[in-house]
Amino acid sequence: MATLLHIDSSVFPEEASSSRAVTAAFREAWREHHPEGTVIYRDLAASPVAHITADAWSAGYTDPSDRTPAQNAAFAERLKLIEELEQADAVLIGAPMYNYSVPSTLKAWLDSVLLMGRTAGETPTAQGTPAVVVASRGGSYAPGTPREGFEFVQNYLEAVLKGTLGLDLDFIVPELTMAPRNPAMSELIPLYEASRKRAFKDATIKAERLAERLAA
Ligand SMILES: Cc1cc2nc3c(=O)[nH]c(=O)nc-3n(C[C@H](O)[C@H](O)[C@H](O)COP(=O)(O)O)c2cc1C
Repeated sequence: MATLLHIDSSVFPEEASSSRAVTAAFREAWREHHPEGTVIYRDLAASPVAHITADAWSAGYTDPSDRTPAQNAAFAERLKLIEELEQADAVLIGAPMYNYSVPSTLKAWLDSVLLMGRTAGETPTAQGTPAVVVASRGGSYAPGTPREGFEFVQNYLEAVLKGTLGLDLDFIVPELTMAPRNPAMSELIPLYEASRKRAFKDATIKAERLAERLAA
């Protein structure tokens, strides 16, 4: 039975969040193909994971029999997140752009999950797991746009999710989401609408393709 690890990190509720709406559409399409499957859901805005601490970090490189009680307690929380990633057949992440980068809650999750010698290193334990990231943003940072060089969401997640955890990474990018609310962007509304429509279509197509791939 297939397991989907679904993570959202937008601070807004689904009706006001492009990433949550698109991850929900993906998840719905996924469910249609995996009615018996499991979805592990983490809402990092509602229930943030702890920031990494010295105990949580050093425990990862200390023999279990030598860990202090504080290291054990802190590492137990990391382990839960690491095991969720390792048991997933597919990963779905909502990653809105906040000040050119990912929300700090998502960064905290990554800091916990990335463990050299286990999820990272020569043979990462989740290597090859397909991952779809819905990278919503208020503006556009597409190649050729004035703010192209300010894009630190896809660049960063490429390095961490693909380059380090070894996930098989794919993006859906609903952009220009601020256009309907920012009068200075009003002429960009048609581009925003087209991007949103494409994102929902991509979510359905990618969920279906993934279902076929996992069934093969
Ligand atoms: C704290 C914060 C910082 C933001 N920073 C940026 C930014 O740097 N660039 C941008 O294009 N949009 C920025 N936005 C707008 C969001 O990226 C946009 O609202 C996007 O749709 C958020 O994803 P969501 O709809 O899933 O919540 C920011 C929004 C918030 C709340």
